[in-house]
Amino acid sequence: MTEYATPAVAVIVVAAGSGSRLGAAEPKAFVQLRGRTLLERALGSVFGMVEPAQVIVVAPDSHLSEARAIAASAAGAAVGYVDVVVGGATRADSVNRGLAVVRPGVETVLVHDAARALTPSALCDAVVAAVRSTGHGVVPGLALVDTIKHVGEDGTILATVDRSALSAVQTPQGFPRGVLLAAMSVADPAGTPTDDAEIVAAAGHPVGVIPGDPLAFKITTPWDLRRAKALLAERVEASAISATDAAAASPRIGSGLDVHGYDDSAPLWLAGLHWPGERGLSGHSDGDAAVHAICDALLSAAGLGDVGGVFGVADPRLEGAHGEVFLRETLRRVTAAGFRIGNVTVQIVGNQPKVGPRRLEAEAYLGAILAAPVSVSATTTDRLGFTGRGEGLSVIATCLLERNRERRTR
Ligand code: CTP
Ligand code: MG
Repeated sequence: MTEYATPAVAVIVVAAGSGSRLGAAEPKAFVQLRGRTLLERALGSVFGMVEPAQVIVVAPDSHLSEARAIAASAAGAAVGYVDVVVGGATRADSVNRGLAVVRPGVETVLVHDAARALTPSALCDAVVAAVRSTGHGVVPGLALVDTIKHVGEDGTILATVDRSALSAVQTPQGFPRGVLLAAMSVADPAGTPTDDAEIVAAAGHPVGVIPGDPLAFKITTPWDLRRAKALLAERVEASAISATDAAAASPRIGSGLDVHGYDDSAPLWLAGLHWPGERGLSGHSDGDAAVHAICDALLSAAGLGDVGGVFGVADPRLEGAHGEVFLRETLRRVTAAGFRIGNVTVQIVGNQPKVGPRRLEAEAYLGAILAAPVSVSATTTDRLGFTGRGEGLSVIATCLLERNRERRTR
C-alpha cells in the first residue's frame, strides 16, 4: 500500500448544476473560460493542494463521460484518486451522492463549487488545516462591503442590517467526515440549503469562518464569467512580462571563429603576445586570430554584430593594429550594452606555435584586459585539413556574458 493509498482528505467538487443564471448552452461547469472548462480550472486548484486528496466530481448525467475525461486529465498521475458520480436535483442531493463514495480512511471532507473556478489551492489547504485544528466545520468568508438592507415584499426598505456581523461565505467548506454525514442524514428533505454550513449548523454543529479569498468568487452570471476572463487575461499578461524579464536577465553565450594563413614575412602576434622566431599570420591588422575570435564571440553574445561589421576590414587606422585595440573597444561596447564578461575560452587550432609553454602568460594578458577569466588551449588536427598541412591557423572562442545589474535598462 502506497503512502497515498488512503488519503485523509476528500474533496467533493459539485458540478451538476445547470447554470440557469449564466444561461449558457451547456451546464455551467462545462462552459469554457479561456480555453478550459470551469470544472477543469476548479480541479486544477484542488489538485494543487499540498496534501493529496480523494477528489470526487459530481457531474450532470448528460456530461458524465466529458466529466470523466476532464477529471482524468486534471488528475494526471493522481488519476487513482478521482471518482466521478452523477449529481442530483439539488445541490444538497449532489453533495450527498458525492459523500456516498468517500473512501474509508478519509477524516476531513471538503465540499467545493466547480463554479468557483479561480479558487487558489492555498484556500483549500487553509480550510483543511482549520478543520483539523478546530475539530469542527470551517468555511471561508469575506466581509461585506456594501450596506445591506432588509427589504419588504413591497420593495421598501425595512431596516439596515449591521454588516459588521455578516460574512459572505465561499467554498471549499470543510467538515470532519462524521459531522457532515450526521448532519446530512438528519437534513430536512424539504429544505433548500445553498451551502453545506447551513445543513451542518442546522444539525447543531458549530461551523467557524476563516478568511476567504476574492478569487474564490462564484461564477453565477455572464458578468462573473467576464470578470473571470479578465482576471485570467491579466495573469497571462503578467506571466508574459515575467518571462520577458527572465529572458532579459539571463546570461548569454557567444562564439567566434577566425582563420589566418601563415605569412613568413610577418612577425607572429597571437593571443595578444609577440612570438619571436615563429611564422607570422597574414591579415589587415596584426593578424591575431585569437583576439579576433574573442571579439567575435563577445560581440555576438551581446548581439552587437561581428568584428568585420564593427571594425571594418580596411580601416587605415587599424593597419597593423595590435590586438589590445580590438579587445578594449569590444569590451567598451559590450559593457555599454549592459553586460559584463563571465568568462572566455579560446582554442588555437594549428601546428604552430606551441602554445603550451606560454599558455598561462596568454591567459593572464587577455584576462587583465578583459577583466575576466580567460582560458587558452590548443590542439593540432592530426595532420588533416589546412591546419594539418600547415597552411594557417584557426581559433575558436566562446564566451559567457552576464547582465550588469547597475547598467541594466528595461
Ligand atoms: N450544483 C450541483 N448540483 C445541483 C445544483 C448545483 O452540483 N443540483 C453545483 C453547481 O454545479 C455549482 C455549485 O453547485 O458548481 C453552486 O451552485 P450554483 O452556482 O447555484 O450553480 P447552478 O445551480 O448550476 O446555477 P444556477 O443556480 O444559476 O442554475
Ligand atoms: Mg443553483
